[in-house]
This record gives sequence, C-alpha cells and structure tokens, in this order.
Amino acid sequence: MWGHHVQKEIHWNLAVCRVAAINTANEFRGIINLTMGCRDSDAPSDAYLSALYALAYSQLAELIGPVDPDRTVEIGAGLGLARLSDHRWVCSDVSGSDPIALLSLAQALPYRSGSLDALVLKDTWHHIPEIEQFLAEAHRVLRPGGMIGVFDPYWGLLARLVYRLLHQESWNATTPDWSFPSTNPWDSNQALSYLMLIRDRAKFDSTWQSKFTLIEPQAVVGPSYLLSGGVSRRTPISGSMLAALLRWEERRGAWFDHLRFFHVFGMVKR
Ligand SMILES: C[S@@+](CC[C@H](N)C(=O)[O-])C[C@H]1O[C@@H](n2cnc3c(N)ncnc32)[C@H](O)[C@@H]1O
Repeated sequence: MWGHHVQKEIHWNLAVCRVAAINTANEFRGIINLTMGCRDSDAPSDAYLSALYALAYSQLAELIGPVDPDRTVEIGAGLGLARLSDHRWVCSDVSGSDPIALLSLAQALPYRSGSLDALVLKDTWHHIPEIEQFLAEAHRVLRPGGMIGVFDPYWGLLARLVYRLLHQESWNATTPDWSFPSTNPWDSNQALSYLMLIRDRAKFDSTWQSKFTLIEPQAVVGPSYLLSGGVSRRTPISGSMLAALLRWEERRGAWFDHLRFFHVFGMVKR
C-alpha cells in the first residue's frame, strides 16, 4: 500500500525533500528533511527555497483569484508549505498529519458536487497516475467557474534535457498513455503536462475543452533551480544569491522560456 515499506531514497523535485527508509505513512513526516543541496533544515529556511515556494504559491493564488479558503483544497499538499505564505487552503494528501486535514486520493475527493471554489496542485499533477480520473472528479466537485491551478515541471529545452538525463524522477515523453503504473505516491511522469497540453493537444481539447476553459501555461523559474542543487542536491552558491537570480529570472521575457523549469496553468470549470 502507498506509504508503506518504501525503502528507497526519494528526492522531491522542487522541495528537494530527502525521505529515507520510510516504513509507515506516519513515520514519513517525522523523518522528512527539507534540504537545499545537502544543507538540512526544518523548513525551507534557505533563502532560495523560501523564494521559490513563495513564488509558486503566489502564482497559484493569483491564478485562482479570490476564493473561500475553506472551499479551496490543495491536492498533494505534502508538508503544507503554502501556509508559510499565509494561504489557508485545506491541505490534503494521500498520507500525513497536521496540517494535512484531509487524507484523500486526487481521483476520489470526498466532496459534494459543485461544492469547491478551487483545487491547487503544486508539483502534484505529474504524480497522479490516472489524471483523467482526477479531471473528471475535479469537474464534479468544482462549482461552475471554479478553477484547477497547477504548478508543474515545464518542457523548455533546458528543462527537458535536465529532467530526462539528470533528474531522479522519470520524464517519459514517448509513452502513448497519460496514465502510468503507480505503486506509491512518488511514482510520476514529469512529462505529463507536456503530453497533455502540447503533444496530445488535439486529444486534450476534444475531451476536456467542453468541460474546462484552459488558462494557457506560463513558464516560470529559470536556471536558478538547476544551480540550487534542485537536481544534483549540491551547490556552492548561497541561497540569497540564488534568490536574487530567481527575482532576475522572473523579470525576463518570453525569450527566456527555453531556460525555464516550471509552468503554471489553470482550468476553469465551464
Ligand atoms: C512532489 S510532492 C509535492 C508536495 C507539495 N505540494 C510541495 O510542493 O511541497 C507530491 C505530493 O503529491 C502527493 N500525491 C501523489 N499522488 C497523489 C494522488 N494520487 N492523490 C493525492 N496526492 C498525491 C504525494 O503524497 C506528495 O505529497
């Protein structure tokens, strides 16, 4: 079962969480370390990680607009780090404890039809093995005009190279399927949004355009992510220098997208 007997070391792509020897879902939270490179800390105290999380969650908050936080659910909230940026959305995940308020799979949400304002997924979309089941469920639980806000790996030239060759999570852009085999929540295909929004766009539009209006992806975060050790886990560069680089990157134009590592997109329920 997910969360049990996961013995291998897993690295989260953005939080760069090191999880070792997880025996039960509850132990998971006790032993998790957020690290930047190999510098351990209790929370994203590193200036770069803090800036990256603040950026990601502010982009998502801006995207979903004014919402009732009690009717807005973060799917795959992990450590609930949105709270560090004062977002009080309901934290849900497949495992975990406080601030995780709801244990649930994204594909089966325990909410009444039309009862939610928004669903937020930061670095979670590419972990959902049956993404169309999730979309159908999201369509059910959202009110008309309700929004799915997603922050996930991007497919720019540099990102593609790095995710395919250097990253610990899989990047499979050749699979014919949007679904992937999954035995635990860390299984993923980082190319999932690329498959759906670029490679198989006609299929995406024909299935989902009548149910959702897509807010097109906007690429964010540049090589600061790579330099931070987000992939290699080691960096000689200080967090504050990387945070300054991140701020500089956010002021670049569309030409910079080839060098970006993440994107933000939305889907509004029709
Ligand atoms: C990379 S972590 C992101 C955590 C957090 N959003 C962050 O950025 O710090 C992905 C999260 O998605 C959760 N997850 C994976 N598959 C899921 C599913 N099918 N339904 C709900 N959550 C899932 C995992 O448990 C994990 O907490």
